[in-house]
Amino acid sequence: MNYFSNLINNNLNLVAITMSQTPVTQKLKCPKCQHILQAQGQPGQQIIINCPNCGFQGSFRFPGAQHDHAIISVQNLSKSFKDVHAVQNLSFSVQKGEIYGLLGPNGAGKTTTIKLMLGLIHPDSGTTIINGHDIKTQEILAKHNIGFLPERFTFYENLTPLQTIQFFCELKGVKKSVAPQLIEEVGLQDAIDRKVGTFSKGMVQLLGIAQALVGNPDVFILDEPTSGLDARWIKIVREKIKMLNDHGATIIFSSHNLTEVENLCNRVGIMNQGRLIAQDTVENLGKLLHIYPRLEITIPNLNGVVPEVLKSIDGIQHVEAYENILRVTCAAGTRSQVIAALEKTGFKIGFIQPPG
Ligand SMILES: Nc1ncnc2c1ncn2[C@@H]1O[C@H](COP(=O)(O)OP(=O)(O)OP(=O)(O)O)[C@@H](O)[C@H]1O
Ligand SMILES: [Mg+2]
Repeated sequence: MNYFSNLINNNLNLVAITMSQTPVTQKLKCPKCQHILQAQGQPGQQIIINCPNCGFQGSFRFPGAQHDHAIISVQNLSKSFKDVHAVQNLSFSVQKGEIYGLLGPNGAGKTTTIKLMLGLIHPDSGTTIINGHDIKTQEILAKHNIGFLPERFTFYENLTPLQTIQFFCELKGVKKSVAPQLIEEVGLQDAIDRKVGTFSKGMVQLLGIAQALVGNPDVFILDEPTSGLDARWIKIVREKIKMLNDHGATIIFSSHNLTEVENLCNRVGIMNQGRLIAQDTVENLGKLLHIYPRLEITIPNLNGVVPEVLKSIDGIQHVEAYENILRVTCAAGTRSQVIAALEKTGFKIGFIQPPG
């Protein structure tokens, strides 16, 4: 049975009553006012629906080929810790070559989901299939080609990055001679002989990515890879993720910041209270949830005043100026319009975050 689930109290209560072939058209009944509404989408797509009659909001996943060509398929995963329902009936799939962002606030269940996917903890119910192998019954095969960056990790402070990566090579049965190249790939070559104990947080994070690269995996699961880093390091880590993907890797990473996943992910799944409440491209989700990414532009001649020209641009939700920083919350498609209008009226554009 297909459901249309309520985002507010997580009741599963709108029931599909008819269905046709691709693109999927679905008639749904609002559980609150019984109004019949029609929704159209791709097989496997999850959308957010507002009942036009009473305003009830819920999500609905179209039936169909969501697991086609999936390199990772998570089906009905649930995990509770005593009375905390950390992950509840979670299903999603990631296609080969995708960058998939798992987005959600603190405590949403992202880390628990990742640990379940990797077989580090066992689900109460549900399955994870990676490259066609069930993580429960074929763990070694399923994990064979995966690079993992945990949310929290520590390295031996007295080792150099070279010794650290050689150590991971030994653990994974990979020849140690690849270590210098992996360190270079993440840009730590200048610090190759320094002790890890002297590294900044950003450098440690890059070493974590180098560790995940050991064995040349084609799937990466990164738990909050940019957490706690400043804008410069976030940019560097994002570039590494992009580079891996450009070389053909499939990437799943978690984050609690929509702006951060913008321009990087093909699709985003939003988790809240253990459930996947929406899944789509960042832009579509932004429109549906009325969440717009925030653009931060450094403008040396801003002088803390919001430029008049921005008032005539549709699609800007909020704008504020502070000294030489302009913060614009707007639809992703409006970004280039904002920058062009500022340049045209004589503002010098400096640093833009996130980069386009
Ligand atoms: N081992 C555990 N024992 C008890 N409760 C746990 C355990 N692991 C996670 N939880 C609880 O499960 C819920 C989900 O936690 P999880 O770490 O998966 O969230 P998260 O989305 O990764 O959050 P964050 O963004 O803060 O990292 C939280 O309420 C957390 O306290
Ligand atoms: Mg977490």
